[in-house]
Amino acid sequence: MEEQDDAAGAIVIRSCHSGDRDEMLAVINTAAGAYRGLIPEDHWHEPYMPADEFASEVADGVVFSGCVARDRIVGVMAVQRRYNVDLIRHAYVLPRWQGRGIGSILLGHLRKGADRPILIGTWAAAEWAIRFYERHGFARVSDEDAARLLRTYWNIPEGQIATSIVLASPELGGEAASQLMADVPPPPAPG
Ligand SMILES: CC(C)(COP(=O)(O)OP(=O)(O)OC[C@H]1O[C@@H](n2cnc3c(N)ncnc32)[C@H](O)[C@@H]1OP(=O)(O)O)[C@@H](O)C(=O)NCCC(=O)NCCS
Repeated sequence: MEEQDDAAGAIVIRSCHSGDRDEMLAVINTAAGAYRGLIPEDHWHEPYMPADEFASEVADGVVFSGCVARDRIVGVMAVQRRYNVDLIRHAYVLPRWQGRGIGSILLGHLRKGADRPILIGTWAAAEWAIRFYERHGFARVSDEDAARLLRTYWNIPEGQIATSIVLASPELGGEAASQLMADVPPPPAPG
C-alpha cells in the first residue's frame, strides 16, 4: 500500500481484491463513457465491461491496482504479464477525479520495478489517452507492428485490431518487435 498526498488530496494506491469488484466496475463503466460515440459502434455496449468479462479478465491474469480517495475507489489500472512483456490494461479514473494526477500515479506504481518491455493498446480514437501515455514516455509503434503485437499478446477481435494502436516503453522499432514476438511460443495446434 502506498500513501500519497498531492493534487488529488490524500490518496492510497493499493492492490484490488474480489470484494472491490462492484466499485471497480463502477469506475470502469463510468470512465468508459468517454468512448461513447468515438469508438466503432459495434464495439460500444453498456455496460462497457460486463461483470462476466471482468471475471474472465481476472482469471486470465489481469491484476488490478486501485486508487482510493475518501474511502472510495476512484481509479483503477491493471497489469497483465503476457509471455515476455507486461501489458498495461484497463486504465480508468472517474471523470470528476481526472486531471489530478491519479492516472499518472497508478501508471508509475505499475511500472515500478518493470523488468521487461511494457505495451499498451488503446483505441486509435482515444487521443487523450495516447497523449497521456506519450507524456509518460511511451512511444507509438507503427500500424503494421501494432497489428502483429495485438494478435500476439492480446485476445481481441480482428475488427478491434484495425481501430487500435499500441504504445511501448521503451520505444519499439520493427526489428525489436519482431525479435520480441519470435520468443513467444506458438499457439497450441487445434484438436
Ligand atoms: C486516461 C486516464 C486514465 C488518465 O487518468 P488521469 O487521472 O486523468 O491522469 P492524470 O491526471 O495523471 O493526467 C491527465 C492530465 O492531467 C494533467 N495532470 C497530471 N497531474 C496533474 C495534477 N497534479 N494536477 C492537475 N493536472 C494534472 C496532466 O497534464 C495530464 O494531461 P495530459 O493527458 O494532456 O498529459 C483518464 O483520463 C480516464 O479514465 N480516461 C477515460 C478512459 C480512458 O481513456 N482510459 C484509457 C484506456 S487505455
